[in-house]
Amino acid sequence: SDILQLISVLPKAELHLHIEGTLEPELMFELAARNNVLDKIPYESLEEVRAAYNFHSLQSFLDLYYAGCAVLITEQDFYELTWAYLERAAADKVVHTEIFFDPQTHSARGVPFATALQGITRALKNAEAKLGISSHVIMCFLRHLGPESAMATLQEALPFKEHIKGVGLDSSELGFPPSLFQEVFQLAAKEGFKAVAHAGEEGPAEYVWEAVQHLKVDRIDHGVKSIEDASLCAHLSKAQTPLTVCPLSNVKLKVYDGELVEKLQVLLKQGMCITINSDDPAYFGGYVNANYAFLAESLGLDAESIYQLHKNSFVASFLSDEVREKYI
Ligand code: ADE
Ligand code: ZN
Repeated sequence: SDILQLISVLPKAELHLHIEGTLEPELMFELAARNNVLDKIPYESLEEVRAAYNFHSLQSFLDLYYAGCAVLITEQDFYELTWAYLERAAADKVVHTEIFFDPQTHSARGVPFATALQGITRALKNAEAKLGISSHVIMCFLRHLGPESAMATLQEALPFKEHIKGVGLDSSELGFPPSLFQEVFQLAAKEGFKAVAHAGEEGPAEYVWEAVQHLKVDRIDHGVKSIEDASLCAHLSKAQTPLTVCPLSNVKLKVYDGELVEKLQVLLKQGMCITINSDDPAYFGGYVNANYAFLAESLGLDAESIYQLHKNSFVASFLSDEVREKYI
């Protein structure tokens, strides 16, 4: 249709993408064989992997996502993982991407911070030259490991500051409110990092308030549960705090039902800065254009809304104003 055509040709920024969540089953097996760790992945075949990607909650996904990471060991592994994502992003007309990585997932397995970061940044640099994609890296703290481990990770990252644009907060949400990480985010701000946090994915609207008030984030990742709190929605609209929404992720993890999707459209029309992203596309069945297309089809979005979403992706990005201007 015309809408799908429009989605495929519009340049866009992707702002919520876990690089570990782009590990396609084929690459998972290839790296497992190369690194002699086939025994570390709980599957015998590609079919078995795909059958396992049937989730009922955030945690049921995270368990498999962390298990898959066991195959990522060398700098070259991280390079190939990131490069594969960038080629797919280029095919979806992504011209700027801000990717998350989870250093603690790798350091806990004995893979140094520098190994993961260097593989990722080498691919990003190559993409700038060969695919015309600009990028930033955002390192995320795993909230289930608590604030002390997050603080140690931030300290470990300081020597690599020039390669890291911002800090984020991800993993299991319920029981790990943003306020626990206030001190870590305070230091990160002092060190010049931008800040984002997953909030209101499975957790309540209250966690979104905490991310705004305690962590002083520049963007909220997901944030769909904000819909349950009218005064929060009013605040986010007025402050133009962006939400990086991931529709296929929310559907796969059973985060929301149809009613919430419709409210999202109302908020978009009211001027909330909503953006569309793919989260963990290898696990949720689609890269960024598939996420736009899913929303367009389920909501019957008009061309004007598609334009608005594409524009919001640049407004919400950490690009300099000068570069941003070129796209909006
Ligand atoms: N890590 C990777 N994907 C995530 C998500 N959707 N929510 C929380 N943590 C994550
Ligand atoms: Zn996410």
